[in-house]
Amino acid sequence: MSEIEIPKHVAIIMDGNGRWAKERGLNRTAGHEEGAKTVRKITSYCSDIGIKYLTLYAFSTENWERPKLEVEFLMKLLDRYLKKELSVYLENNIKFKAIGDISRFSKTLQNTIYETQNKTASCTGLTQVLALNYGSKNEIIRAIKKLNELNLEVTEENFETCLDTAGMGDVDILIRTSGEVRLSNYLLWQNAYAEMFFTQTYWPDFNESELDDILSDFSNRERRFGAI
Ligand code: FPP
Repeated sequence: MSEIEIPKHVAIIMDGNGRWAKERGLNRTAGHEEGAKTVRKITSYCSDIGIKYLTLYAFSTENWERPKLEVEFLMKLLDRYLKKELSVYLENNIKFKAIGDISRFSKTLQNTIYETQNKTASCTGLTQVLALNYGSKNEIIRAIKKLNELNLEVTEENFETCLDTAGMGDVDILIRTSGEVRLSNYLLWQNAYAEMFFTQTYWPDFNESELDDILSDFSNRERRFGAI
């Protein structure tokens, strides 16, 4: 991979768990379970190749509209995943961070999230960022309120310090799996100059080799950031 330019920040909309399961005659939850395995695999790979931030859309502000049982399953899966993953984060120097408004989650899940953040706070390798009860419009409104509270001048720099992603910088590569071509309220500000990749692959089937292809394509793209 020596000729490949490694981006600093990769963001992924992990889509297609439900369809993956349906195609196999399984319950949607089986797709989420398999999707969690892909999270583990892709996080490990991004850590190995030196990506600094991997931001994954795990639960949106709109996902509460799903059937109660599916929402409950996702909450439990998340809690189980974070507890199991802690040793892997620490072994691999991976920092964990949540973005979004987690105050709507159960106290148990909030505690697991805070504990995982605190215990991995001094890790210096990849930061795995999970977007949880995240919506970009919601984040932007919260950031504006914070900017006002702090009585800061309205500048791009000050605004960015009030976003959940403060200090992480913009997204370099945005990937969405499953063939859908939209942003779905994800990192609207941070994706301003992102190179975007849309793949037909369902998230549970996404793998390192497909990410390699995207990184290779990214390396060949000329990013002009509005200049010529
Ligand atoms: C989209 O697929 C996926 C989600 C809404 C949730 C993402 C969750 C995971 C990848 C698994 C758990 C994550 C962690 C970090 C443990 P969909 O259900 O919308 O699929 P569909 O569009 O085919 O119905």
